[in-house]
Amino acid sequence: MKIFLDSADIGEITALCDTGFVDGITTNPSLIAKSGYNILETIAEICSLVDGPVSAEVTATDFKTMLTEGQKLAAIAPNVTVKVPLTRDGLMTCRALSDAGTDVNVTLCFTAGQALLAAKAGAKFISPFVGRLDDIGRDGMGLIEEICSIYANYDYDTEVLVASVRSTQHVVDAALMGADVVTLPPKILTALYHHPLTDSGLDAFLKDWKATGQSIL
Ligand code: G3P
Repeated sequence: MKIFLDSADIGEITALCDTGFVDGITTNPSLIAKSGYNILETIAEICSLVDGPVSAEVTATDFKTMLTEGQKLAAIAPNVTVKVPLTRDGLMTCRALSDAGTDVNVTLCFTAGQALLAAKAGAKFISPFVGRLDDIGRDGMGLIEEICSIYANYDYDTEVLVASVRSTQHVVDAALMGADVVTLPPKILTALYHHPLTDSGLDAFLKDWKATGQSIL
């Protein structure tokens, strides 16, 4: 399963890319706003730091302007994936960009029916928002299970990119279900390393080791 970082913060991205676990980046208009920097410059800088796909989202809502924005974003670097919302115009934009050879990530997906349409529109990635579904008392990971089954039934190439991840359990569940990608906020990627038994076990090993007076180097 690929791990993407859900961030537009250059400092965070640089630090976490050093771990070797980051296969790509997703951004959205809220993350760009939070960064405080220009979208075109930010996406260009991220693309220079990361070899994998970097999702950059359009902000228009009509097909014609979305397509123009998407073409402009795609021209920034070869690893840009254009992100479009799951609307009628967004899916038309997905079809047009995909036909022209640009990878598209269809975002703000909340039903399996929407995910089916995105696959039929040629999306490279579908981004179901599991955390936001959980927030309203629905079953976010249940949606991932449905989409994985539907895509497998028809051999769709669209990759299931689990977004709006709130916990390490979401990551484990996504892997068990065979999702292709999770995009993680930095704090969830960092949390994946940790377990209290790892910490206490290491403390005990180091205490015992110190008592030996030995040194490996
Ligand atoms: O980038 C899309 C998605 O991951 C946003 O997550 O936490 O704002 O629901 P969140």
